[in-house]
This record gives sequence, C-alpha cells and structure tokens, in this order.
Amino acid sequence: MGCQHHDPYHKRTAGGADSFTVAMPRLSFGRGVLDELGARAAWRGITRAALFTDPNLLGGPLVARATQSLKEAAIDFAIFSDIRVEPDDDSVMRGADFLSEGGFDGLVSVGGGSVIDTAKGAAVIAAHGGNIVDYFAPPAGGGRGVPGPVLDHIACPTTAGTGSECTSISVIRINALDCKFVVASPWLLPVDALVDPSCLDSLPTNALASTGFDLCCHALECWTARAYVHHARVEDPRARQFIQGSNPFSDLAAQEAMQIVDRYLVRGVNDSNDHEARDKLMWGASLAGIAFGNSGTHLPHAMSYGITHLMKDITTPGYSIPSPFVPHGISVIVNAPAIFRFTASGAPERHLEGAAFLGADDKGATPDDAGEVLANRLVDLMRATDMPNGLAALGFSADQVGELTTSSLRQGRAIANAPRESNAVDMENMYNAAMSYW
Ligand SMILES: [Fe+2]
Repeated sequence: MGCQHHDPYHKRTAGGADSFTVAMPRLSFGRGVLDELGARAAWRGITRAALFTDPNLLGGPLVARATQSLKEAAIDFAIFSDIRVEPDDDSVMRGADFLSEGGFDGLVSVGGGSVIDTAKGAAVIAAHGGNIVDYFAPPAGGGRGVPGPVLDHIACPTTAGTGSECTSISVIRINALDCKFVVASPWLLPVDALVDPSCLDSLPTNALASTGFDLCCHALECWTARAYVHHARVEDPRARQFIQGSNPFSDLAAQEAMQIVDRYLVRGVNDSNDHEARDKLMWGASLAGIAFGNSGTHLPHAMSYGITHLMKDITTPGYSIPSPFVPHGISVIVNAPAIFRFTASGAPERHLEGAAFLGADDKGATPDDAGEVLANRLVDLMRATDMPNGLAALGFSADQVGELTTSSLRQGRAIANAPRESNAVDMENMYNAAMSYW
C-alpha cells in the first residue's frame, strides 16, 4: 500500500490489518433528485414499493413529491408511517410485518435517520425472520449474522446529519434493555441514496443544529479513529467490520465534511434562508456518512448512548416530541469537547489537524495543545448555535455519572475504535468534565 509510506498515521504494525473495504450506495445529489425516485425504482425493476416515512412527514410536501414520482413511473406503493423518533425494536417489528404482508419487491425510505434505520431493520426481518434483537451483537443480542440480501432499498434523507443513507448500519433502541444498539451488515446498505438538499428548506433551525453536530462528530471521530492498520487483520473478508478504523478513504471524506462544518454550520443554523449553507451541509452529511460507514465512530457516539439510556425526565426545548427526548446530535456533541481533551494524547497531530479543518485558530499550537485547541473550537461552534452548555444543561447531575458510564461501557466496539484506551474511571472523568463548558 504505497500511501502508507507518506502517511505515518496509517503505517502498519505487525499483525495489523493490511487492507480495507469501501462500501457506499449509488448516490445522487442535488436539488430535485427526490423527483427521480420513480425512475430510479423502475430502473431497479421495482413494481410495488413499501414507502417508509414518519408521522410528521406524512401528508407533507416531501412524501407528496416521492409518491408523485412513483405514480409517474407507474410503480404501485403502500405507506408505512408507524415509526417513532429514536426507533425501537417494536417499530422495526411492525415494519417487518408490513413488508411481509404487502407483496413488495422494493423498499423506499423518506425521512431522517429514524425512518431509514427502521426500514433497514424491517427489511432484515422480512427477508430472514426472527426478531431484530437476534441480530444485535452479544451480550445485548443474539449475535446472528444477516445471512443474505434484503429488499432493494432506496433511501431519501430529509435531514442533514445521520448519513444513514450511506451506511450499512441501523441504530435501534431495544425497549427491554432501554438502550440503543447497532445492527451492522453489508446487506443493510441501501442500493440508491437520493440526497436532495431542497428537503432541508423546511427543516427547523434546531433540528438542523442537532443533525449538523451529528455530522460534525461523524467526521471528527472518523478522522481521529484508531488507524485501520492498528486493528487486527481479518482473514475472512466477509468478516471485515464496518468499524475498520480510519483509512485513506474515510480520511478524504471526513476532511471535506469538517471543512463544510467550519464554513456552513453556523450560517445554515442561524439563517433558514441560507440555501447555499444548507445545501453544503446536506452534502457534508452524506460525506461524513460515507466516512463513518467505512471507519466507525468512537467515544462521542459510544458515550451518547448513556445519555439516551438515562434521559428519562429530560426534555429538549424547541422540540415538539414528548419526553424523554434528547436529539441524537445533541447527545453526541454535548460530551465531545471533554472527550477530545482526553483522546488527544493518543493521536495529537490528528486532533490538531481536525481542529484546523474545523476552523480553529491553531497558530503557534503544538501537538501538546491539540486537545485544548480542538475542544475550544467545538465549544465555540456550540455557543454560536445555541447548543446546551453540557450535561448539566440537559438536566443531568454528577450523581448520575456512574450510571451513564455503566450504560456506555456496553458499546465496546466503538470504544475500542478510539485513538486512546479508556476504562470506567476515564469515562467517569469525561462525563464529569462534560457537565458544563462555559
Ligand atoms: Fe450519529
């Protein structure tokens, strides 16, 4: 691998991986591509599509455009919208029943990450049976692999953050365990992603802020993830995980996504008419999705799961969704400055470069300053977009740090993808440091 000679971060060590895989859907980007849905589906040979969306989008202009396009292509369809934000195993199983009973030969999702992830999970059960919990990694799930193809899935994102249209993972809440887990398989990857930035024109400012920080953290976590050459070599290519660590391809996409965050996040959030900024953020979200779909995230995402587990009495101002609810992007960014202060010593140059991509003033900074420079830039972005000032602002208190840690420690694979090892005490220290920033 010639690139390794010029890239010390990806210099292989004994026993480490010597190859990586890049997976992504056929991606179409631009204003108006949602209207290509029918033609795309017809080209795939789909004659009857299941259209997954959520109750908030049902009856709105985006679903109307999608269904109009299907009608123009003479594709029969039926709609499933019984999907909650932060989708759970119950909604996945209801979606699977809908697919199994409907005689469909294709699947379309129109919505944010919750809709796309529900569609992915439902497609697995409809094709291969069982319960979605069977497919989560142990100890939460049964560790069952997805054995083969599922319905062709065309994903049409309506937010700019999750990047789920570009990944082979689905994040689902298991109600019995009251916690979110990941199902991952190459078979979950949508065949087409139609990324139409006009979908953001009506997205509320606070939703764009939350999803924008999700995109920011996807890119930054990919960039700072443990290098793929420091993950164990996989002999069977079918066993290669999407969490394969930072690699030259994920680096490319992550760099560009971080620069988009620097230039356009504050603009796009603070001015809903700034279409240039919002269009760029939509592109950045797909890029960051492609990046983390081929490298994996690490501690900011792992530690966000503790928040969504314990958010019982927490509400987030500005959202019409009933309690408990902390938007995913907020649950990720709120710990991030404290986390990157901790992880910086594991890959100081990477943290400093990440800070520079995000627009930090790094003049005169040395690698020893990397964590501080990066954390300060993230805090600046949070303040400029009216994010909550740390865990305390979300209603958490110091006496919950132990519980947050116990919950997040279950995300072992993502934790192991961080550039610095951490134990329970480290994680408690990070949660404590994330209580407030300014
Ligand atoms: Fe995320």
